[in-house]
Formats: sequence, structure tokens, C-alpha cells
Amino acid sequence: MTSIKLKTPHSGEYEQPTGLFINNEFVKGVDGKTFEVINPTDESVICSVHEATEKDIDIAVSAARKAFEGSWRRETPEHRGRLLVKLADLFEANSDELAAVESLDNGKAISMAKGDVAAAAGCLRYYGGWADKIEGKVVDTTPDTFNYIKKEPIGVCGQIIPWNFPLLMWSWKIGPAVACGNTVVLKTAEQTPLSALVAAKLIKEAGFPPGVINIVSGFGKIAGAAIASHMDVDKVAFTGSTVVGRQIMKAAAGSNLKKVTLELGGKSPNIVFEDADIDNAISWVNFGIYFNHGQCCCAGSRVYVQESIYDKFIEQFKARAEKNAVGDPFHEQTFQGPQVSQLQFDRIMGYIEDGKKAGAKIETGGKRIGDKGYFIEPTIFSNVTEDMKIVQEEIFGPVCTISKFKTKEEAVKIGNNTNYGLAAAVHTSNLNTAIEVSNALRAGTVWVNTYNTLHWQLPFGGFKESGVGRELGEAALDNYTQMKTVSIRLGDALFG
Ligand code: NAI
Ligand code: MG
Repeated sequence: MTSIKLKTPHSGEYEQPTGLFINNEFVKGVDGKTFEVINPTDESVICSVHEATEKDIDIAVSAARKAFEGSWRRETPEHRGRLLVKLADLFEANSDELAAVESLDNGKAISMAKGDVAAAAGCLRYYGGWADKIEGKVVDTTPDTFNYIKKEPIGVCGQIIPWNFPLLMWSWKIGPAVACGNTVVLKTAEQTPLSALVAAKLIKEAGFPPGVINIVSGFGKIAGAAIASHMDVDKVAFTGSTVVGRQIMKAAAGSNLKKVTLELGGKSPNIVFEDADIDNAISWVNFGIYFNHGQCCCAGSRVYVQESIYDKFIEQFKARAEKNAVGDPFHEQTFQGPQVSQLQFDRIMGYIEDGKKAGAKIETGGKRIGDKGYFIEPTIFSNVTEDMKIVQEEIFGPVCTISKFKTKEEAVKIGNNTNYGLAAAVHTSNLNTAIEVSNALRAGTVWVNTYNTLHWQLPFGGFKESGVGRELGEAALDNYTQMKTVSIRLGDALFG
């Protein structure tokens, strides 16, 4: 059996594929293994899905290789674009079901899940638009030479995605890879395999040839590691923890030196100056840390507020955080659902304990909510020092630290006091402060008077240990193409 009927409170009954999606069919794994998918809202088992092991990765990679060397290579760029746009349309047509499955499996609030589906469709359509605009150039060197530079696809791309934005990461990875003419083997996170399999049905419906996009469920250490070290995978793109990012790079180095792009963790500073519009700043600081339950690589987890407004800010921020509606992800009003898994819940509670022991003060939150499901109160720690673990390490939950600074210079210094460099934000009404501080912060994205407002047209990725390469925007095309220089010696009749 490679599909079952399931029900969500939002969209009713639907057909949930459970197989590995290889060559446009849902199949069982060679070893016949399955694993359970847990509902983080009530800790029940939703269903079991088939698990990919090394042998299945081999099968998926050879399907992708065959498609790359065969039918896909012969498709026109215009046709590749058309298929991606069709896929985007299908995401929109099926958005209620996709969003409901995302909420069921991940625990994210349904309103947020709908936003993710809309953004995934936007991203796929955007890269559909790029497919026939990937152009090379002609370079004159000597008069008797004709040189052109082509941008060619890389080949078979292995893509490993996390559980915090399953469908969105699916689109960020598949959109540019396919637009550029590559084929794909994508592995979902073991915590959240369901929405990607529902979306896989749409791949077939959109008309992609078999083998172009293959989606597998499986564990990092088995299926993920098999992709990263595979001798016939030409490129690997990974989003997840910095620890695993390093392992992926090592696996690439130890196998066929496949190209590597990494989108890793963060510990992003959210800096509020005394001249900021306070109400606006509080909204964005709140959204910066608590959006997606704090499970964002770019979460604004370190809040720094200028001394003169600190007391007022903290009172208002506390009040704001306490108003966030935490609960059943299927209630339309819910802002924050459960954390994704028992493991993530335990990690976050561990950080909260660690912060308390280190002498930080809990301004609000710090506790579990209820006794079923992985719910954690929105938490603010004050009285922190820069050397504390809760200030230095990525918590990946609804927990932030807050402290004061005096000057612009100090704000930049503490803002940059991290090995990460994914994102940062500045809140100010002074244009000079906004630009000077943005320029001085070592981060791939800096938001001014806003937060977490990513857009598929804008490159996203990390400085320092937050990653390698940029996703989204035109920049992502560089990850999925390689240049070929063709240099032709001409006869010398005209130049003799
Ligand atoms: P993880 O890095 O272990 O998992 C992310 C993906 O990598 C999953 O698909 C997983 O199966 C795969 N993976 C794991 N080990 C692998 C290996 N050896 N080779 C190849 N693939 C492998 O992250 P995890 O354990 O789920 O979360 C741990 C922490 O990582 C979080 O608390 C958070 O700090 C960070 N994280 C960051 C994300 C981001 O968006 N940058 C997303 C998820 C987690
Ligand atoms: Mg893991």
C-alpha cells in the first residue's frame, strides 16, 4: 500500500501518498521499512510512510540520471518554465489541502501554513519565469578567436530539506534546480514527510517527465548521508543545522567533490534604537522571534534595545508576547502551535533550564503549556550576558534574550558577536542609522523596521557559519548552473 485516506479538521478527507516518489510513481522501499509520522499537537501517530535506505537512493539517483541524460535534456527551456508555472497553479488550486497537511504534520498554525503554500507557489512560478532567461555571453579576446560562455545545468541534484517549512523549502529547492534543467532527488525531514508527498502528486499532474523530480522520505544518517556521499549526485543543497552542514561538506569532499550549497543556522540580532516607532518595533520583534514558533533559521533571537527606552520596551514587549494565541493549529486565530517534535521540545526546555541556571531572568514564559502536545510559552530572558549559551547558541524555539546597549557602535559590536551571519534587523527612524548599521552588520539579510519578510525575488543566505551560497532570486541560478567556455579558433582569411 502506498497511500491511505486521512482526514484533517480543515480540509476533510484526502488521499495521503506514503510511498517513495520515484519515476513519477509511489513505490515501497526496497527493504520494506516504514516509519511513523507523529502529530505534534496531540502526540498521536498520523500514519506510517515508506523509508528510503541507501538502495532506494541508488534507484532514485539512477532515475534522475536517466531523465537528465534523456528526455529532460531535450525539453526546451520554455517548456521547463511552463511545467513549473503549471505546478505553481496546482499548488494554488490545492492550497487548502496542502496547508492542512502541513499544519497536521508540522503543527504550524493554519493561517501560516496557507501563507507558506502561497509563497511556495510564488517561488515556483518565479523560477518558471527564469527558465527561458538563463543566458550566456560572447567574449572577444583575439581577432582570430570566437569565445562563448554557456550556462549549463549541473546534472543530478540531491536536496535535503528540514521540517520547519516543509513545502516552502521544497519549492526553494525544486524551483531553481528544475528551471536550470537539472533533475532532482529531494529528501524530506523525517519529522515532516507528508506535505511533500501530497505535492509530489502535483508533479505528475503538471506533466513533468518521470525521473525529473524524485521525492523520498527517510532519515538523515541513512538516506541523507547516502545522497551527500553518492558518486553520481553532481550537487547537494542542504538546509538544516550547522553540525550536519559540516558533515555534508565532508561527505562531498570524501566522495566526488559534488558542488555544495548550505543554508544553516542563525542567532540573529534584532536591534531597536531609541528613535524607532515603538509600537511598530514591538510588533516586528514579536513576529521576529515567535513566527513559526521560533523555528526559523533567521529568527530574531537576540533582542538589543537602546538604554533610554529599554524599561518601557520590555514592559510592552512582555504584554505583546503574552497576547500571542498559542494552541490548536487548526483554529484560525492561532498564532503559535506546538514545536515540531519531542526532541525539539526537549532541546528548547533544556535551553530554558540552562538560562535559568546561568542567572538569566525569565520576564515571561518559560513553561510547557498543557500536558499533551509540544507547546511552549513565548519566553523572554533578560539579565543575560553575552557569554551565556542562550545568547550564543541557536535555540530554535519561542525563546529570545533581551539586553541593552548605549551607542550605535556598541550595537554593531554585540550584533556581530556570533559565529552566525544569516540575518539581522535595525529599528530606527533615522535613515543614516539604518544604512550605517545595516552596512556594518555581518549578515546575509538585514531588515529595517520589519522582520522575516522574505521574498522569492530576494537572495537569502548566510555570512560566516550560516551557510554557503544564496537561495532565491536570480542568485539561486548560480547554484544550479555551471559555466562552459567554448573557444573557437577561426580561419585567418579575414584577419590575415
Ligand atoms: P538536522 O540538520 O539534523 O536535519 C535537517 C535535515 O538534514 C533533515 O532532512 C535530516 O534528515 C537531514 N540530515 C540529518 N543528518 C544528516 C546527515 N548526516 N547527512 C545528511 N542529511 C542529514 O536538524 P534537526 O536535528 O532536525 O534540528 C536540529 C537543529 O538544527 C535545530 O534545533 C536548529 O537549530 C537547526 N535547524 C536549522 C534549520 C534551518 O532552517 N536552517 C532547519 C532545521 C533545523
Ligand atoms: Mg537531526
